[in-house]
Amino acid sequence: MKGRNVVLIGPMGTGKSTVGKALAEKLGWTFIDTDAVIEKKAGATIPAIFAQQGEPAFRSLESETIVEALQGEQRIVSTGGGAVLAEQNRDAMKAGGFVVALRATEETIISRVGNDDNRPLLQGNAAERVRRLLEERKHAYDFADAMVDTTDKPVEDIVEWIASRLP
Ligand code: S3P
Repeated sequence: MKGRNVVLIGPMGTGKSTVGKALAEKLGWTFIDTDAVIEKKAGATIPAIFAQQGEPAFRSLESETIVEALQGEQRIVSTGGGAVLAEQNRDAMKAGGFVVALRATEETIISRVGNDDNRPLLQGNAAERVRRLLEERKHAYDFADAMVDTTDKPVEDIVEWIASRLP
C-alpha cells in the first residue's frame, strides 16, 4: 500500500503551504494547496470570490475541493484556516489522511499575515481580526492526529518531525 495522504490544517500564517511544499518534496509526493485549486476552479482570487460570491460560496467550493484532493494517495494537502469548521470536511480529512495541525503564537501569525491583501477575513484591523479568529477557533484543530508549533522553527526541522511521525 502506498502512504496515506497527509492533511495540513491550522490557522492562517502557521506555514501550511510552505511546510506542505517542503514535505512533498522530501517524500516525493504530490502537493495540493486547496486554496490554489479553488482559485483555479473559480477563475478568481480568494478575495474576489469572497467579494463577488460571498463566503458561503467559497466554503462550498472548499468542501468539494477537499473531498477531491483526498481521493488519491501520497498527497500532501494543505487546507485553508477555516476548512476545519465544517464537520463534513473534518470527517473527509480524518478518513482521507493523517491530519497534522500547525500552530504558531499570535504574534508570529500577525507578523506573517498582518499586511496581506489576499486574506479577506483580515481586512481592516488585521491584528484584532487574527486575535478574534484564534479565539473563536481555539479548539477547531484539536481533532488532528499530530500537532506541531512552527514558531521560530526552521522548515526543515518541521518537515523532519512530521515525516518521522507518519504511520
Ligand atoms: C481562511 C483562510 C485562508 C483562505 C480564506 C479563508 C480562513 O487560507 O482559505 O481566506 O477562514 O481562515 P490560509 O489559512 O491558507 O490563509
